[in-house]
Amino acid sequence: MNTIRIQASKEYDVCIGDGLLSRLGELVTQVCKPQKIAIISDSHVWPLYGQVTKNSLEQAGFQVVNYVFPAGESSKNGATYLSVLNFLAENQLTRTDCIIALGGGVVGDLAGFAAATYLRGIDYIQVPTTLLAAVDSSVGGKTAIDLPAGKNLAGCFYQPKLVVCDINTLNTLPAPIFRDGCAEVIKYGVLFDPALFVHLEHAGCAFDRKTVITRCVELKNTVVAEDEFDAGRRMLLNLGHTVGHGIEAGSNFTISHGQAVSIGMAIVARSCGCGDAQRIIGCLQRFGLPTKTTLDAQVLAEAALSDKKRSADAVKLILPEQIGKCRIVSTPVAQLQSFIEAGL
Ligand code: NAD
Ligand code: GLY
Repeated sequence: MNTIRIQASKEYDVCIGDGLLSRLGELVTQVCKPQKIAIISDSHVWPLYGQVTKNSLEQAGFQVVNYVFPAGESSKNGATYLSVLNFLAENQLTRTDCIIALGGGVVGDLAGFAAATYLRGIDYIQVPTTLLAAVDSSVGGKTAIDLPAGKNLAGCFYQPKLVVCDINTLNTLPAPIFRDGCAEVIKYGVLFDPALFVHLEHAGCAFDRKTVITRCVELKNTVVAEDEFDAGRRMLLNLGHTVGHGIEAGSNFTISHGQAVSIGMAIVARSCGCGDAQRIIGCLQRFGLPTKTTLDAQVLAEAALSDKKRSADAVKLILPEQIGKCRIVSTPVAQLQSFIEAGL
């Protein structure tokens, strides 16, 4: 098992290894002493991993209840959030009890927000089961639900008590969902780590999961330790995301987040004249990720500007200078369309 200590305002460990679900009870006892644990999961993950998780917690002496909601982004809303809070209240969880988020980023974001707000905050533990959740959403304390007006519009920063990533759970991920996570993994290489990028270039989807996930979490830790509340360096993690958001929205969300980020990274790399653009695009293609879109620049720019990360007259774009080095550039709103056009 690899362990990384996250140095946010509240420190915690991320444990990464094989077969950790069956050791979850033991790992939980090392960080908190709840009487009751509520596992929050979704309708795809619970049938696969619910029982092993529950057994492990019960064997460690915890009383376990579970709440399962329909899988998918459309559940990450106010109605599900309130149902979770009601479930916690009906089951009389107290301030010293604990929530476990068992699933991908949807479960993690929603259960994390419920944990942050139920009784003004109780402990929660992230147990990511998608690649995206393992390398990104389970670490760093961003929690959120979507509002009708847009994604992640209600949420807060609330760090988990522990993250436990059992890499065996990734074996049941449908290939397109695994590939979506690969776009985020490649992003870490482009942002911070030429050696990671070279490993990915050569290995493709057969990369060493434990080593690569561990490296991505270490890299995310360096960012979160410096800028937990997303006022500076953490924005680098948005590489490909502003244009990607435009692609997701412009396609009426028929293009997945990972695919959109892949296309977004390719567009910014081409447009800013990065000397490594062809290598970045080649690596994305090696993973079966798209690097082009038929949507036009005007549609993309308009959709991208509805992203909550823009300010009144400028949008912060993350531009690769070379593999392992990117910078944050404040781009006037009026120039976004021509910037995108140049990278299509
Ligand atoms: P997801 O949670 O919807 O999971 C994708 C699909 O895979 C779902 O159908 C899920 O049921 C299924 N699944 C999960 N684990 C599985 C497994 N092991 N085997 C089989 N199926 C499995 O999506 P995601 O890509 O994990 O996360 C996307 C969400 O994460 C978005 O809501 C996004 O806003 C959020 N996010 C949050 C952060 C953050 O910092 N908090 C960062 C990035 C993304
Ligand atoms: N996923 C971006 C962040 O954690 O800041």
